[in-house]
Amino acid sequence: MPSYPESIRIIDVSPRDGLQNIKQNVSTADKIELIHRLEQAGVKNIEVASFVSPKWVPQMADASDILSLLDLNSSTNYSVLTPNLKGVERALDSGVKEIAVFSAASESFTQKNTNCSIDESLHRIEELMRPAIAQNVRVRGYVSCVLGCPYDGDIATTKVASLSKALVDMGCYEISLGDTIGIGTPIKAKAMLDDVLKLVPANQISLHFHDTRGQALANLLACLEYGVATIDSSVAGLGGCPYAKGASGNVSTEDVVYMLDGMGIETGINLEKLAEAGQFITQQLGIANNSRVGNVLKN
Ligand code: HMG
Ligand code: MG
Repeated sequence: MPSYPESIRIIDVSPRDGLQNIKQNVSTADKIELIHRLEQAGVKNIEVASFVSPKWVPQMADASDILSLLDLNSSTNYSVLTPNLKGVERALDSGVKEIAVFSAASESFTQKNTNCSIDESLHRIEELMRPAIAQNVRVRGYVSCVLGCPYDGDIATTKVASLSKALVDMGCYEISLGDTIGIGTPIKAKAMLDDVLKLVPANQISLHFHDTRGQALANLLACLEYGVATIDSSVAGLGGCPYAKGASGNVSTEDVVYMLDGMGIETGINLEKLAEAGQFITQQLGIANNSRVGNVLKN
């Protein structure tokens, strides 16, 4: 019988990853209501917005407004995604205490997503790390395309590992491994993690799996055997990177919590209230709820 962690830290990324690709305008008030409902459900870590270029991702243009409407001294750990120094300056102005930086193990995806090479993305991260660390802001690092890229195809697991290590060496306290287009399967996910864990310990890893092909829960279960105890997920299964061809939603937080509840693994999250948060945002936007468990609890 494999052994699993006793508790899992869930990072709900729906206000950022979940909404960034939605074409219709999502009001700031609806984003705030979503965040509050997640908190009422017991979610303690929420990626609330991104300080990226509004020309690239118009849906995130109200990031400063969102931060100004949140109680940054509350017990919730709010984080924001930042691509460059300008993003970090905006984030520091907002008073947020955690940022997330991002690179990818694919050259073509990095170009499409951030208009630069992988090396250049690392230089940008090195540059933005200084002001963040100087102001005691925690930094998470994302590595995208860890199980495949929509443009470059297969990705070397050693590349994922070395990039993860490079981000840790720069000061990231945790690496979130992104299956950006939900292309992985469990054995492949384990092989990738095997290589990453040679360079970065399990307690510094988070799993950020999109569910495009219905593999995300299986991939998570496989990886939890390695002692990883942090998962990124998105209520109602919303999500997807606008610059990753064929990307769709993150694994749904409701489905993850249901699975972990069934395994006796603590998350601190109330599933009914969580499902209500997913119902709220999908009904408000008139879009499909992609959580299997969320849909069961709705009826
Ligand atoms: P660029 O066009 O090469 O940059 O974009 P630029 O420096 O030439 O700037 C263009 C304009 O944007 C300028 O404005 C800048 O001032 C402005 P203008 O002078 O033309 O008026 N600008 C900014 N404005 C506000 N905040 C900023 C900022 N930076 C520049 N931070 C850039 C380069 C990196 C900015 C752009 O490519 C970008 O914003 N990319 C982000 C794309 C994105 O958000 N993708 C989704 C998130 S990643 C993801 O979803 C994957 C993840 O979930 C993990 C996984 O699933 O694998 C994390
Ligand atoms: Mg993502």
